[in-house]
Amino acid sequence: MSTTSLLIPLSLSLILASLPLFSSTTNIHSDACRSFCGNITVDYPFALQYGCGHPGYRDLLYCMNDVLMFHIRSGSYRVLDIDYAYEALTLHDPHMSTCSNIVLGGRGNGFDIEEWRLPYLNPTADNAFLLIGCSAQSPLFQGFPNKHLVCRNISGIGCEDYYDCPAWDLLGHRKPSRVYGSGPPECCAVPFESIKAINLTKLQCEGYSSAYSLAPLRINGPDEWAYGIRVKYSVQANEDFCRACQATGGTCGYGTDSVRQLCMCGSSNSTSTCDFVMSSLPRRMTSWTAIKATIAGSLMLML
Ligand SMILES: *[C@@H]1O[C@H](CO)[C@@H](O)[C@H](O)[C@H]1NC(C)=O
Ligand SMILES: *[C@@H]1O[C@H](CO)[C@@H](O)[C@H](O)[C@H]1NC(C)=O
Ligand SMILES: *[C@@H]1O[C@H](CO)[C@@H](O)[C@H](O)[C@H]1NC(C)=O
Ligand SMILES: *[C@@H]1O[C@H](CO)[C@@H](O)[C@H](O)[C@H]1NC(C)=O
Repeated sequence: MSTTSLLIPLSLSLILASLPLFSSTTNIHSDACRSFCGNITVDYPFALQYGCGHPGYRDLLYCMNDVLMFHIRSGSYRVLDIDYAYEALTLHDPHMSTCSNIVLGGRGNGFDIEEWRLPYLNPTADNAFLLIGCSAQSPLFQGFPNKHLVCRNISGIGCEDYYDCPAWDLLGHRKPSRVYGSGPPECCAVPFESIKAINLTKLQCEGYSSAYSLAPLRINGPDEWAYGIRVKYSVQANEDFCRACQATGGTCGYGTDSVRQLCMCGSSNSTSTCDFVMSSLPRRMTSWTAIKATIAGSLMLML
C-alpha cells in the first residue's frame, strides 16, 4: 500500500471525528431561546421560556393562541409590536379609550408596574396618558386651581385636541368646555414620568387613553394619533454580558435564582462566555482553531 492510500482513510476518520464537535458548535450559536408568537419574534431580552432572556423581563410575556400578552401588576395587555431597533414595545389594552370610543367605569388597566421592573421598562417620554373623568379629589388636582396643574401637552398630544374626537359627542352631556371652569378638566394628559403609576383607582379617574407620536411624523389630528402604550425597555449595563456571550456562540439566560445572568453554551452554562467553557476542557480536543487546522490539513491530504 502506498502512503497516500493510507492517508485518505486516516484523514476521513479525522474529519468524521471532528464532525460531532463541529455540529455541536453550530448548534450552540443559536437561537435556543428565540421564539415566535403569531407574527411577533420574541428574542433577547424577552423570552417565553423560564431561564431564557434577561431576568428583568422574566414572567412578563405569554403566548396564548398566537396572541402575545404582556403581564404586569396593573393587568394584561396585548403586545402589538416589539421594536428591537428602538428598544420599545407597543401595548394595547381593550379597555383603553380611543378617538372613536371612550370607555368609562374605571375598567382600564392604566399602567402600574412592579418596582423591581422599573429599571427595565418605562413608558416612553413621548407617550401621553389622557386621564378621563377624574374626580376633583383626585391626587392629580391636589392644590388646584392655585397650584400649577400637572396636565399638559406631551409631544404635541394633549386634551385640547383629544376633545375634537367623535367619542366625546357620543358622551353627550359630558362634552367638556375648553375653558377650565370652577372644577378640574374632564381630561388631563400626563407623561408617565410625572406620576409614575397610572392607577385609575388611586387617581379616581373613570377612564383613560394613551397615545404616542413617532417623531418626526407630522400628525394632523387626534384621529391620526397612534393609540397604545409605547414602552421603552432597557437592559443597560447588563447588555455587555449578553453581547460577549452571543459573540462566542452562546445564548443569554439566567439561573434558578432569577437574578444571575448565564451564558448557555449547548450542554453547559457559563457565568461569562462560551470561550471560557471551551478552554476549560482539554485544549487539544476542543480548540476551534485546532479543529479547523485538522480539517484543512485533512482536505489538503485528500487532494
Ligand atoms: C402582524 O400581523 C398583523 C395582522 O395580522 C399586522 O397588522 C401587524 O402589523 C403584523 N405585525 C408585525 C410585527 O409584522
Ligand atoms: C442552564 O441554564 C438553564 C436556564 O437556567 C437551565 O434550564 C439549564 O438546565 C442549565 N443547564 C445546565 C447544564 O446546567
Ligand atoms: C391601585 O390603587 C388602589 C388604591 O390605592 C390599590 O388598592 C391597588 O392595589 C392599586 N393597584 C395596583 C396595580 O397597584
Ligand atoms: C396644547 O396644544 C394646543 C394646540 O396643539 C394648545 O391650544 C394648548 O394650549 C396646549 N395646551 C397646553 C396645556 O400646553
